[in-house]
Amino acid sequence: MRVVEVISYGGPEVLRIANRPEPEAGDVPGRVRVRLKAAAVHQADLRIRSGQWAAFLGELAPPFVLGFDFAGVLLDAAPGLPEGTRVAGFIPWVSEGTGEGSYAEVIRAAPEWLAPIPDGMDFTTAASVPLSALVADQAVDLLDLPEGSPVLISGAGGVVGRFAVQHAAAAGYRVVALADEDVRHELLRLGAEELVPRGDPADVVAKVRAHVPEGVAAVLDAALIGAPLLPALRDGGTFVSASGERLPDRVRDIDVTAIRPRPDAARLKTILDGVAARELMTRTADIVPLASAAEAHRRAEAGHRPGRIVLLI
Ligand SMILES: NC(=O)c1ccc[n+]([C@@H]2O[C@H](COP(=O)([O-])OP(=O)(O)OC[C@H]3O[C@@H](n4cnc5c(N)ncnc54)[C@H](OP(=O)(O)O)[C@@H]3O)[C@@H](O)[C@H]2O)c1
Repeated sequence: MRVVEVISYGGPEVLRIANRPEPEAGDVPGRVRVRLKAAAVHQADLRIRSGQWAAFLGELAPPFVLGFDFAGVLLDAAPGLPEGTRVAGFIPWVSEGTGEGSYAEVIRAAPEWLAPIPDGMDFTTAASVPLSALVADQAVDLLDLPEGSPVLISGAGGVVGRFAVQHAAAAGYRVVALADEDVRHELLRLGAEELVPRGDPADVVAKVRAHVPEGVAAVLDAALIGAPLLPALRDGGTFVSASGERLPDRVRDIDVTAIRPRPDAARLKTILDGVAARELMTRTADIVPLASAAEAHRRAEAGHRPGRIVLLI
């Protein structure tokens, strides 16, 4: 089968198409095979490929196959999911530690990663959802604040940020979105109460404080801005980062946490059903063939993509 390997740490050019033996039914107990149709490109893929996470990955080193999110067709039956079911999910790539990601034609998946793709939803849309939506959902769950509490979401125009805006609004929070001015109307439609345009952090904090003078109860940092956002928070507030990078030190009794998402098939099914019913919005920016993964990484690295970049397999 075709996979895209990272042949050594480096720029997008280290992504190369390779052939690997296709997994066989039952070759890893408890795992089922999924023939992939789409996989998503994440910021973490770029950091892993460049070597930025090399120390953190321990013995896992190139050549390996990147990729968290996937959508495809089950080749083996899983509990409640017959062979042939269209499924989506994400590989917990770092904790799995096998280097067998979703930039591949066939993967082995744990049944608890998998949710059925609703009828009528295409594979590329489904692949844009799992990790981003679950990160956002689990981050919002962590907040555990009284309804109506004001929450600042940075990077609200990004994929995780958009889901976070929608999950936080659905949880009854007052959402202040930090994003580019040109997505104001879209984010207000998704449930934000106010948009603070991105810019100099001191200016951003002043605008947040102008809207919520007592300071927000929580920051959900999907742009990884870190410490410069702390002055927007009230004493004893909560700071949840989408990643372990750029975590601020704890000050003024502010609780600081990094989200470590876990697969949750039941929740993912609800989210995918919500997307199918148009109650929840996801966005894909580009759909690129698997063989052009390097180009997909170049675009992701350049930033300013209005949605997930998806590899078509
Ligand atoms: N813990 C996990 O497993 C996990 C899983 C998924 C994602 N994440 C992390 O979550 C973060 C967001 O992921 P994503 O997929 O949503 O990435 P994304 O689509 O690139 O979103 C990031 C957004 O933040 C914006 N941004 C950057 N700097 C900003 C600033 N100073 N002020 C306001 N907005 C700013 C970006 O805009 P421009 O592109 O225009 O600069 C972009 O819209 C990433 O760091 C990612 O690694 C973590």
